[in-house]
Amino acid sequence: MYLNCASMMSQATKFLIVASILFTAKARINNCEDKLLELCVCGNQYIDRATKFVVNCTDTGFTNSDMLMVLPKKTNVLIFTGNHISILPVNIFGEQADLTALEVIDMSNNGITEIKGKTFHHVGSVRRLMLNHNNISIAEEDDRNFHHPRVFSNFENLEELHLTNAFADNTDEELADDLHDIFVNSNLTKLYKLHLEQNEIKKWKDEKVFCDLPYLHDLYLGDNYIPSLNFNILCLKKLRYLDLESNNISKFTQEDLDTFDKLANDPSRTESLTLEIGNNPIKCDANSKNLYAWSQKTDVKIRNEDALTCWNVKFGKILNLKSLTESKHAKFSKALMVLLVVLVCILLTLITAYVYLKKDSVKTKLSPVLEAITRKVQYTTIESQEV
Ligand SMILES: *[C@@H]1O[C@H](CO)[C@@H](O)[C@H](O)[C@H]1NC(C)=O
Ligand SMILES: *[C@@H]1O[C@H](CO)[C@@H](O)[C@H](O)[C@H]1NC(C)=O
Ligand SMILES: *[C@@H]1O[C@H](CO)[C@@H](O)[C@H](O)[C@H]1NC(C)=O
Ligand SMILES: *[C@@H]1O[C@H](CO)[C@@H](O)[C@H](O)[C@H]1NC(C)=O
Repeated sequence: MYLNCASMMSQATKFLIVASILFTAKARINNCEDKLLELCVCGNQYIDRATKFVVNCTDTGFTNSDMLMVLPKKTNVLIFTGNHISILPVNIFGEQADLTALEVIDMSNNGITEIKGKTFHHVGSVRRLMLNHNNISIAEEDDRNFHHPRVFSNFENLEELHLTNAFADNTDEELADDLHDIFVNSNLTKLYKLHLEQNEIKKWKDEKVFCDLPYLHDLYLGDNYIPSLNFNILCLKKLRYLDLESNNISKFTQEDLDTFDKLANDPSRTESLTLEIGNNPIKCDANSKNLYAWSQKTDVKIRNEDALTCWNVKFGKILNLKSLTESKHAKFSKALMVLLVVLVCILLTLITAYVYLKKDSVKTKLSPVLEAITRKVQYTTIESQEV
């Protein structure tokens, strides 16, 4: 009996010791369930109005992505930023990846230069992918083929793609060539939001570059070098926000404005179209006047339309489009007013002069009339007194 009890006690103690060792080991790897992830922080967090299991490997100094093969299956949000991974390998989450809960991947700011065509597998549940601030080349270069048009093809349910400053500098030509191929080959039928700011983009190889993104609502192209509305937007039936801020646009032609109107007035639409066109070198000319007039009557919403400026080439000055147009109006009506006053003065002078010159004949002509009036007044007074 005693013996039994003692052995049970020792068993229990052993169990407790083992358990506590396991527990401290777990604690040491920050709830991440694997030694490879020990530099990361894992746990539940309240994000996007829900509790999510977040794996956060920020500034952990990783130079390879091996730890991504052992992500906990329950991971909802992967934050992997500020590391140094030049090349994202094939099957980055492992061949047998089973990450059906993964919704967000943030791989911003990792110095990524190349993404292998088959990097992302089993990512059908991911809704947001962020690759901002990297150095990605997607064009063919020397013997190495960086061209992987199917790079996003497994993101069947992707809603947001963030590619702000994602590409290597001086690749705008290749980028323009390849983006279309990528979108055609990736079947991003649910993509809602696309960020492509700060990528030095000037032009597109194909004006239908975005036409394979039929669900696109918000397109961010700010901080590029785009010189005009040089891509098709009429195919983007759901477009509700187009950001062209801080580009190199010198004018919007009547055709461009008609295009915006045509899209905004499409009967199948349920939302309005908003444009951001601030901070572009729009020239002060007939086109800019036309732009202002259009902005006052169109159904398209223009963000900060009162702050739109144009560039006066002759005087090297930036002018506010609204005050420029309105001051011209004001100048015109002022001139009209002065003219009117002058004319009235001349008329009055002429009448006075005429009356003065012909005062005798005027008097004789008017006297019978005056007399009649006086008489009439007298009669009326008498009549009223009689009553
Ligand atoms: C991830 O970790 C970094 C650094 O510890 C922190 O600044 C950031 O807020 C974390 N992100 C989330 C979503 O918890
Ligand atoms: C980006 O890549 C180019 C070569 O493609 C390299 O010269 C440059 O230093 C890289 N920039 C950064 C910030 O890594
Ligand atoms: C594209 O995705 C849709 C569903 O999102 C699917 O029905 C269709 O077959 C896919 N097409 C291709 C070419 O993969
Ligand atoms: C911006 O446009 C002007 C012509 O309007 C052109 O001379 C200039 O090179 C363009 N800048 C860039 C960075 O493309």
